[in-house]
Amino acid sequence: MNSVEKAKIGDVAQMHQLINYFADKGEMLARPLSELYENVRDYFVVRQGERVIACAALHVSWSDLAEIKSVAVAEDNQKQRIGAQVVEACLKEAKELGIPTVFCLTYKPAFFEKFGFCQIDKMKLPRKVWTECYRCPKFPDCDEVALIYHLEAGV
Ligand SMILES: CC(C)(COP(=O)(O)OP(=O)(O)OC[C@H]1O[C@@H](n2cnc3c(N)ncnc32)[C@H](O)[C@@H]1OP(=O)(O)O)[C@@H](O)C(=O)NCCC(=O)NCCS
Repeated sequence: MNSVEKAKIGDVAQMHQLINYFADKGEMLARPLSELYENVRDYFVVRQGERVIACAALHVSWSDLAEIKSVAVAEDNQKQRIGAQVVEACLKEAKELGIPTVFCLTYKPAFFEKFGFCQIDKMKLPRKVWTECYRCPKFPDCDEVALIYHLEAGV
């Protein structure tokens, strides 16, 4: 099984391709290359040789909250628990950082529910998390589902 590792700068172009491939299909939000470079330390990847086949990010929002974002697994590598591996790496990092709560905004709530995430009203998320949303092309008509996970309860 391929291991999950922290992303390196040389992975970013492929992460961008992977995320924006699914974004073009309306499955997740696009991320500009500049944002991926600026936040490269948030990202985990799974590589197969030189190829990046999966990624996910844990972005710290505040003292008690972090967001999992940009979870993507290349189509020919899906259904092999690689998505689960990158999400679990994000949850483990949140726990190591001492962050008790993780949220995500997604079009695939059932995937996150597999890990114990629960759907919540988006408006219940702290206002701090919306600072990033101002830059989203969909703002203010967000059609993603918000889910939250409390680390004390699991992992
Ligand atoms: C969603 C995605 C990340 C799943 O990755 P994956 O590697 O195929 O998923 P896994 O094999 O790790 O699946 C883990 C579990 O989630 C389930 N699952 C996977 N995709 C799912 C989906 N779309 N809806 C509901 N459950 C899903 C699997 O059946 C498995 O369940 P199990 O533990 O009961 O066997 C992948 O399909 C993908 O990259 N999609 C395009 C981008 C995207 O939609 N990202 C979503 C988050 S922003």
